Amino acid sequence: MKKIRLEHVYLEYNDDNNKYSALEDLNFSVDEGEFVTIIGSSGCGKSTTLSILSGLREPTAGKFYIDDKESIGTDKNRSVVFQHYSLFPWMTSKKNVSFGIKQVKKNISRKELNERAKEYLKLVGLEGFENKYPYQLSGGMQQRVAIARTLAMETDILLMDEPFGAVDAKNRETLQDLLSELLENEKSKKTIVLVTHDIDEAILLSDRILFMRNKKIERDIEVNFHRPRKREDIYKTKHYRNLRQEIMSLFYKDVGESIGNKEVVL
Ligand SMILES: Nc1ncnc2c1ncn2[C@@H]1O[C@H](COP(=O)(O)OP(=O)(O)O)[C@@H](O)[C@H]1O
Ligand SMILES: [Mg+2]
Repeated sequence: MKKIRLEHVYLEYNDDNNKYSALEDLNFSVDEGEFVTIIGSSGCGKSTTLSILSGLREPTAGKFYIDDKESIGTDKNRSVVFQHYSLFPWMTSKKNVSFGIKQVKKNISRKELNERAKEYLKLVGLEGFENKYPYQLSGGMQQRVAIARTLAMETDILLMDEPFGAVDAKNRETLQDLLSELLENEKSKKTIVLVTHDIDEAILLSDRILFMRNKKIERDIEVNFHRPRKREDIYKTKHYRNLRQEIMSLFYKDVGESIGNKEVVL
């Protein structure tokens, strides 16, 4: 059984009677507990793919299955982290996390809600910041709250769309390491689909990388590092260099095409 499966999925946007095809014949699957990253140049259809996986959009054609059942709409087993901090500015960290929990667990007691929110804030390194409002936190910390909120929902499937895209380089590394550590934690073992255009992030975190180009998955690449992974160890290996080279050349092909010169060397 596959946790997620897309078969011949197409998606067309319909704006003011103008049709735009954003996905064409998308086929891929994700196993339970697997971490899959979708990588590719801007505009190739990554966010659109994630919007289908989250249930926020329906395919125009094709089938989308979760646990071998055709999936329609959103459900309580999927949660999403977006690129831009999506916290409620009028709520403290703890209230923001509690809000997420209440979306999936309406009848939770106040005590349990409070404990779970605190537990997940601690997990992302924000103990002591429970009563701060988003404006009192740095961008990286706000994104940690967003991650805590999503993890605290304890869904089977976690979807992330460039979650560290708006965070500076140093904080991005910290958050990537945090996510990598969280994956070791049995409790947060989930099926994850991440969208990114950061090659190192993809290699550090994923079991498999799907390279997407022009509305389609062009390449399915296995990442064979044991976990726990440490970036310093991974960077030294031949497997890492080969993966990086392979993905870079896929990206370069895009750049070459977009400026009409395939001989281009960067
Ligand atoms: N709401 C929309 N209406 C019309 N076109 C859209 C909409 N959202 C995205 N697109 C177009 O669909 C294509 C894929 O977009 P997207 O999935 O956001 O790409 P990516 O996340 O890979 O950058 C782009 O050409 C984009 O302009
Ligand atoms: Mg996008």
